[in-house]
Amino acid sequence: MFVDAATALLTWYDRNARVLPWRAPPGSPPPDPYRVWLSEVMLQQTTVAAVRGYFARFTERWPTVEALAAAEDEAVMAAWAGLGYYARARNLLACARAVVAAGGRFPDTEAGLRALPGIGAYTAAAIAAIAFGRRAVVVDANIERVVSRLFAIATPLPAARPAIAAATDSITPPARAGDFAQGMMDLGATICTPRAPACPLCPLRGQCAAADAGMAEAFPVKPEKRVRPQRFGTAFWIERDEQVLLCRRPAKGLLGGMRALPGGGWQADDPGYAGAPIAAAWRPVGHVAHVFTHFALDLAVVTAIAPPDVSPDGEWWPIDAIEQAGLPTLFAKAATLARTARDAPTLPLREISA
Ligand code: ADE
Ligand code: SF4
Repeated sequence: MFVDAATALLTWYDRNARVLPWRAPPGSPPPDPYRVWLSEVMLQQTTVAAVRGYFARFTERWPTVEALAAAEDEAVMAAWAGLGYYARARNLLACARAVVAAGGRFPDTEAGLRALPGIGAYTAAAIAAIAFGRRAVVVDANIERVVSRLFAIATPLPAARPAIAAATDSITPPARAGDFAQGMMDLGATICTPRAPACPLCPLRGQCAAADAGMAEAFPVKPEKRVRPQRFGTAFWIERDEQVLLCRRPAKGLLGGMRALPGGGWQADDPGYAGAPIAAAWRPVGHVAHVFTHFALDLAVVTAIAPPDVSPDGEWWPIDAIEQAGLPTLFAKAATLARTARDAPTLPLREISA
């Protein structure tokens, strides 16, 4: 007999639901919306284990939304300390006060909930389903993983989110949407884990496209990581008679044909003074960070006065007209650094504070 995903999941949840202080047992009437709301706000960006103690202290001290609304701001902020993302605590108070000002009852629809401070799409759906038994499509990180596996959604995150929401919608039952959502969360937390999911124990194994393909761990597909290697280079600011030595980049390659400060190549390790066009007593004046499409560059900038007897390749450019040299941003930043150091009686601040 074919059992649909929701039925299989709810049957599993009836026997395996995690016991959590903000929950009602599977199949029983919904818990107090205040406790559902408080737990959902605390659980945003935070683990169940970290939330337990805070939830117990908050509900003991402020057992109702009226009590919380009447609390001193400082008391709530202090009680929240350690949970992080402190805007949540400020919104928590603002939300409690808005609910009390409107009569003390939480709105029982997603739209009504969303209008409250600190309640976004996920939280509104979760509260509507868990506290009010509404059919709502709830997608947190655990559910995102489970559903992307069930349907083998090949689009990478975050572009996959609309498809994941639509797929979640397609398996969300008309009744017990709150239990369904929490069952999916529990499945993701205990069986359909990020690494090594326990597919043989999974109630949804019979209808899971990723497990069928032996590729559970491949979903959700992560966004392509920009592998942007770090490279290092040195730019040489060489002065003589209020002029600076500029060169031109080779026509081919990065910044091709542009005026530049002289320097060697950009590579995986710090080249130091290799590539210096003259021998000199170099003074380091700082670093310019620059991100190119395929790598990040840390360009060290060093300065020196050219001895009178050397004639390096390049052109001497008046320093007070350096803005007219058409230097690309990278070298313009390096020039600014060099000039700042030159005009400063001591090392620039960034060097001193290190
Ligand atoms: N994470 C967010 N909401 C949750 C809930 N109701 N149960 C377990 N984990 C959750
Ligand atoms: Fe996750 Fe495996 Fe279950 Fe599929 S069968 S939902 S991959 S645990």
